[in-house]
Amino acid sequence: MIALGADHAGFYLKEAIIEYLKKNNIEYVDHGCYSEESVDYAIFAKKVADDVADGKAEKGILCCGTGIGISMAANKVKGIRAAVCTNEFCAEMTRRHNDSNVLAMGGRVIDAETAVKLTDIFLNTEFEGGKHLRRIQQIAMIENGEDF
Ligand code: RB5
Repeated sequence: MIALGADHAGFYLKEAIIEYLKKNNIEYVDHGCYSEESVDYAIFAKKVADDVADGKAEKGILCCGTGIGISMAANKVKGIRAAVCTNEFCAEMTRRHNDSNVLAMGGRVIDAETAVKLTDIFLNTEFEGGKHLRRIQQIAMIENGEDF
């Protein structure tokens, strides 16, 4: 299950991603928004991040104007590693090295075709583990207020 969310500026990217998920028979939940009427991105970031953190969704995808605000909001939820990606290299590396569980993209930065390509890479690239596991564990320690 993939959890999706967007604000008005990311709405059209989300719609393109939904088409991709449908074509590939990938289950998803669409937390909105559902039009280009102006809304606040943190609302949708929280719904998607909560689904991922609670294990209801394996991964999340969030879209706003830049991908930045919505990723910042998602990253406030414990256990979330949301990555803003603008190109294929970043989408691949954030899975391989950061084990990102939320992909964030910007509708004012990339086009729908690129968003679908980055989604495909994000959903089909495995985490490498090894030294990268130690590094994401250190991120979790910061989140938990622990020293290392
Ligand atoms: C909305 O205008 C815009 O600020 C928002 O979509 C996002 O880009 C914030 O980071």
